[in-house]
Amino acid sequence: MLALAADHGGYALKEEVKKWLDEQKIAYKDFGTHSTASVDYPDMAAPACDAVIAGECEKALLFCGTGIGISMAANKIKGIRAACCSDYFSAKYTRLHNNANVLCMGGRVVGAGLAIEMIDVFLHTDFEGGRHQQRIDKITALENR
Ligand code: RB5
Repeated sequence: MLALAADHGGYALKEEVKKWLDEQKIAYKDFGTHSTASVDYPDMAAPACDAVIAGECEKALLFCGTGIGISMAANKIKGIRAACCSDYFSAKYTRLHNNANVLCMGGRVVGAGLAIEMIDVFLHTDFEGGRHQQRIDKITALENR
């Protein structure tokens, strides 16, 4: 189960991504927004990320205009490692090296084709562990400073 959320800047891309997830028979819960009316991205990020932390959803896909604001908000939540990506390599390596559990994209930055390529590799790439685990542990330690 994936968690999806967007602000108005990411709404259209979220809707495009949902069509692909439906085709792939990948289950998701859509935490909104459900229109192009203006909303604040931290309000959208929080419930989707909470669902990841609660174990209700495995990962989250978040969308705003740039992908940046919603990633900043998501990364304030303990246990969330959100990566704002606009290229395939980063979407792949943030799984391999950072064990990212949230992928953020900008609806005003990337088209649906690239977004879907990034989501596909993000969902199907496992964390490498090893030397990267100690770095994840240090990120976690920063949450408790
Ligand atoms: C909303 O206009 C816009 O600021 C937001 O979608 C996002 O790009 C912020 O980082």
